[in-house]
Amino acid sequence: MASGSDSGRGMWSNRWVFVLAAAGSAVGLGNIWKFPYIAGENGGGAFVLIYLVCVGIVGIPIMICEVMLGRTARSSPIHAMRKLADKAGVSRHWAFIGWMGVVAGFLILSYYAVIAGWALNYVLLTAQGTFTAISAEGAALAYNDFLASPIQLMFWHALFMVLTIWIVGRGVSRGLESAIRWFMPLLFVLLVVLLGYSFTSAGFEQGLAFMFDTRFEAVSGETWLVALGQAFFTLSLGMGAMMAYGSYLPENISIGKTVVIIALLDTFVAVAAGVVIFPIVFANGLEAGQGPGLMFITIPLAFGHLPMGALFGTIFFMLVSFAAITSAISLTEPALSYLVEEYNAKRKRVAISLGVMCWILGLGTVFSFNIWSTGYIVGQMTVFDFVDYLSQNIMLPLGGMLIAVFAVWVLPQTAVGEQLGIKSGFLSVLWKLLGGVVAPVCVLVIFVYTVLPLFSNLA
Ligand code: PHE
Repeated sequence: MASGSDSGRGMWSNRWVFVLAAAGSAVGLGNIWKFPYIAGENGGGAFVLIYLVCVGIVGIPIMICEVMLGRTARSSPIHAMRKLADKAGVSRHWAFIGWMGVVAGFLILSYYAVIAGWALNYVLLTAQGTFTAISAEGAALAYNDFLASPIQLMFWHALFMVLTIWIVGRGVSRGLESAIRWFMPLLFVLLVVLLGYSFTSAGFEQGLAFMFDTRFEAVSGETWLVALGQAFFTLSLGMGAMMAYGSYLPENISIGKTVVIIALLDTFVAVAAGVVIFPIVFANGLEAGQGPGLMFITIPLAFGHLPMGALFGTIFFMLVSFAAITSAISLTEPALSYLVEEYNAKRKRVAISLGVMCWILGLGTVFSFNIWSTGYIVGQMTVFDFVDYLSQNIMLPLGGMLIAVFAVWVLPQTAVGEQLGIKSGFLSVLWKLLGGVVAPVCVLVIFVYTVLPLFSNLA
């Protein structure tokens, strides 16, 4: 996973390698595919604002907690929680956080790999020039045709899973680190090129207004839950990925500053993706709330009308696929590192078994877009909707809330103060206030207003 050594576990060589790995985990389909489409479904501006608030006052403090717990314990999330519970003299049941994270990671990866498979297919389609000078209807048709074929979806889903497992099984080597070093900046550059395109598009003002004009009439409790879930998802929080990555972080690096850099990078990519996509939506009379297809229709459309669009479009989808792989790797890390540590098992073998199980589970998502598209399992939710809702809106925030409570109220604070380099009374109060009160209370309040009524409706 990382170079160097600390009692044999490995260690990131410096702060930037950690920033790259953590940003690699954070920046992914959540930013480029998901953020624009759920902002579209939730009415735009007000949602974006609520999302930014969630990132700032809930996401950042919880990421600090997670990385800090990982670095203090220096082991996989489940073991980390056990060790820390022992240290704090409380019940080992706190390891539940680690277990829930393993399950959440597994559920997320099951559909993440399906969508990332679409991106892989779009590398090929764009390279073939399928979208050159295409119309909005043509782009929508190409997307719908692809989705109607379970066999094709299964193929690309399998390919993505094989790639992920191959990398994970080899151990995340320096090769990957240096790849991230190149690909991430390139992704930024292409986003900026696309920003230029959308800036000149006829829908620019309307797109921007949609993203940033806050119309609070449309906001409900559910909007808060979705924005909160998205903040956790996009920052890879609440399931142990950041804890696992933090466990390889050298002692002398400031966690607070590093986390803020990661959150800013991640937020930039998400907002940029929105600013790219919505003007294209409005310039072509497309629907902002059309759901998961949003990126797969608007981006090919944009490249289809740009000079050398086939080339740049291909590169763009390659970068999206790559961003998805670096996130997928972190989704497997909590389960993988636990099994390797606990059973002294071979990394490769564990990776393959996890991959196969996850691929099978992913079939539920594959079929949600065709043969099971009306096979609702809860309310109006397909398997994909349900797995997505459960993992993102419930398990991640719940995991994050427990992590914050544990870090601030259960763990002995002298050790925490040392880890975080909290020297002044002001910082210590800020830490308690944000990590110990604001973040968990926000999650709790949103839960009480949205999730509880859901259960009483079902009962
Ligand atoms: N943050 C990743 C993305 O935005 C997804 C992810 C979620 C990765 C949870 C790890 C843990 O695409």
